[in-house]
Amino acid sequence: QDSKPGTTLPGTNQPAKARLRSRAWFDNPHSPDMTALYIERYMNFGLSISELQSDRPIIGIAQTGSDLSPCNRHHLVLAERLREGIREAGGIAIEFPVHPIQETGKRPTAGLDRNLAYLGLTEVLYGYPIDGVVLTIGCDKTTPACLMAAATVNIPSIAFSVGPMLNGWFRGQRTGSGTIVWRAREMLATGEIDEAGFIKLVASSAPSTGYCNTMGTATTMNSLAEALGMQLPGAAAIPAPYRDRQECAFHTGRRIVEMVREDLKPSQIMTRAAFENAIRVNTAIGGSTNAPIHLAALARHLGIDLPIETWQRLGMDIPLLVNLQPAGEYLGEDFYRAGGVPAVISQLMTQGLIAEDAMTVNGRTIGDNCRTVRIEDEEVIRPFDRPLRTRAGFLVLTGNMFRSAIMKTSVISPEFRERYLSNPADLDAFEGRAIVFDGPEDYHARIDDPALDVGDHDVLVMRGAGPIGYPGAAEVVNMRPPVYLIEKGVHALACIGDGRQSGTSGSPSILNASPEAAAGGALALVRTGDRIRVDLGKGRVDMLLTDEEISARRAALDAAGGYSYPASQTPWQELQRSVVGQLDTGAVLEPAVAYQRIAQTMGIP
Ligand code: FES
Ligand code: MG
Repeated sequence: QDSKPGTTLPGTNQPAKARLRSRAWFDNPHSPDMTALYIERYMNFGLSISELQSDRPIIGIAQTGSDLSPCNRHHLVLAERLREGIREAGGIAIEFPVHPIQETGKRPTAGLDRNLAYLGLTEVLYGYPIDGVVLTIGCDKTTPACLMAAATVNIPSIAFSVGPMLNGWFRGQRTGSGTIVWRAREMLATGEIDEAGFIKLVASSAPSTGYCNTMGTATTMNSLAEALGMQLPGAAAIPAPYRDRQECAFHTGRRIVEMVREDLKPSQIMTRAAFENAIRVNTAIGGSTNAPIHLAALARHLGIDLPIETWQRLGMDIPLLVNLQPAGEYLGEDFYRAGGVPAVISQLMTQGLIAEDAMTVNGRTIGDNCRTVRIEDEEVIRPFDRPLRTRAGFLVLTGNMFRSAIMKTSVISPEFRERYLSNPADLDAFEGRAIVFDGPEDYHARIDDPALDVGDHDVLVMRGAGPIGYPGAAEVVNMRPPVYLIEKGVHALACIGDGRQSGTSGSPSILNASPEAAAGGALALVRTGDRIRVDLGKGRVDMLLTDEEISARRAALDAAGGYSYPASQTPWQELQRSVVGQLDTGAVLEPAVAYQRIAQTMGIP
């Protein structure tokens, strides 16, 4: 794969394309002195020359787990089983760290680190003697970061999920990661529980190693990695502590060695058809509003055109089948027992909604992998003809405030429908008064101030929270109403913003608005007291201002030097801000998109 096609390896009749990439380091006939130099240092921890020159594939284990990333930390244990699988199939494992990304631990937001981890991993996979790689995925951004790097480099790659935590329980009820936090915050705000009770309730949702057990961004992205064909069938949903997870590690390790021998690369798996499958699966599972951002980024690094409108066109009319929090009631262990991702895909296949010939990492098509899989518990995964909700996908909205934003319709509550929609059976229009916040700090400082006098038909607006304004884009658009409204039974106000929201939130916010205020978006022009009209049926969100008024406000903002946001606090914040794109196109490092399939262009002998 490194040599020109049609040539043969020196001294053999073996076609050059069968030569392993790592041979250019460890067995380079053109540069024996360099071979010696490379090989001596990889031997100093015990690998032998005979192993390194044995034509065994060198398999990287891209390790995302560490003490800093508790969601993925169990990969440190699972890596042992990966190694055994790799060795059994004749490969040599070389494990190395990926820049840590812990969704709940990183300030100001883990959103900053997806592209940083991507950059680092891309550099490692390109510049070291690695023939294939196991991507240890899990916590929200670790999955897209790893897949994006594998896409850019395009060496044989297989994703391996760490798996969700066991179900959380409190007083006989399931408590789900993240989702319980939004509920507990309300209870704390209204004095239903105290601080100690708050911490106890939230901690109950995290009973074991693994990632969020709700259908948050982690379960979503791990499920989509499987739907894209990048994990072994059934691999995504296995809870982290289950023995099946260890077994899956072993099979994943074996399989990546075979993939190197078959030269099966990410570009042959993550095709347009695979993305279309993933978008439909996302609706059926009730997936996170972060999925369109991460899939857009991945598609761009593969050179696949996947405009944001695709999500509504392909995903809107798909029903919600998976009954997991926040859209439903169950958690990760239940999802696994009910059949996981293959059972969802087989349901979509019965309606012709899956491109069945999409290739997957096991060398078979997704259709062959899933065709005969049955649902094991129809309460947790509903059959297609008995869904939790019909038409459960994302609406893609536009208007005079932004080019695009999305709304997750599967989490619109009956209460929200009653209050905002004149015909709750339908997605129609409503109007409200804007209450505007500049960043999450401003929101927290003022939301409970009685002077704001928020009404139950108002629209909360969050700006300054996009990839540039709050570097990385904060998960803050789902804003709880002020306490005085919660006490009256108002649990969700309409929210609009240029930031993201946690996949564990059940808020039907209008979010990921692009371009953000900090990038010249018209969200910067709206003021508290303006009327906003949201027409879900027509897919529009507009400030009810005349064109003259909008132009006058724009001129005044430009004269003042544009929308202002806090200065960068770290070098990476500044670097990323200078090259990052908007959420609707994946918030990628724009100059990185030009570098595609770079292992194939390496030009080493
Ligand atoms: Fe890591 Fe949810 S915080 S998976
Ligand atoms: Mg998150």
